[in-house]
Amino acid sequence: MSQQKGYLSNENRKKVTTHRLLEMKQNGEKISMLTAYDYSMASIIDKAGMDVILVGDSASNVMVGNATTLPMTVDQMIHHGKSVTNGVEKAMVVVDMPFGSYHASTQEAVTNAVRIMRETGADCLKLEGGVEIIDSVRAILATGIPIMGHLGLMPQSINKYGSYALRAKDSAEADKLISDAKLLEETGCCSVVLEKIPKELAKKVTEELNIPTIGIGAGPFVDGQVLVMHDMLGLNKGFSPKFLRRYANLYDVIIEAVQSYIEDVKSSDFPSADESY
Ligand code: KIV
Repeated sequence: MSQQKGYLSNENRKKVTTHRLLEMKQNGEKISMLTAYDYSMASIIDKAGMDVILVGDSASNVMVGNATTLPMTVDQMIHHGKSVTNGVEKAMVVVDMPFGSYHASTQEAVTNAVRIMRETGADCLKLEGGVEIIDSVRAILATGIPIMGHLGLMPQSINKYGSYALRAKDSAEADKLISDAKLLEETGCCSVVLEKIPKELAKKVTEELNIPTIGIGAGPFVDGQVLVMHDMLGLNKGFSPKFLRRYANLYDVIIEAVQSYIEDVKSSDFPSADESY
């Protein structure tokens, strides 16, 4: 039943654009966003009716097995981005600009942004940071590329923070986050991700901005929610932050299926006569 509902919801919807996200905020309609990194999963998530698919640099953690997002390169993001856009018809596809690709100069930021857009066919790019990266944000926006901001816990700055703990608990950091969010909006960003901040701060930012806010670990008073696909599908056992809701336990499902296959091979049950030519 739910699969059929999903197919119908994709058939009848229009391509999601930055304008549609704004309309959703204005209408009080929540925005759904989930990460994907490959063709097969992106195509399922799109068909299920997702509004936004994020090709996150969390690919570094969940696809490559690195401890942080820092090792990701522009070439790797392009590889994942193109794999995702190949499978998506209706969702808006956002690709993360990786660590270091928009910091050295505005010229280098534009060159990398244009390459990612041209070679992936994505709809939008996401950059972490506020005032520190605003010149790059402005320069990329000037080329006509939409940008989603990212404030609060910014995993590309993990070595500065020293941990993945809740951000903006004190008033100085909270005030800076509010002023960064307003600056991103004034500069022309289409939306902003708020990661791991207190829910009352996320509420204030959401009320003060005209562009949508999309939260991860930022509570319910935001315009949309984003999760990492591997976490919400239960593909990894070890990661259980308070904000995560698991919608499936695919780790156990896959272990069981793979063990059944091993058993069938070992016992010569597979392949049967019907499965042979
Ligand atoms: O890389 C990523 O998956 C992200 C989300 C956590 C928002 O940036």
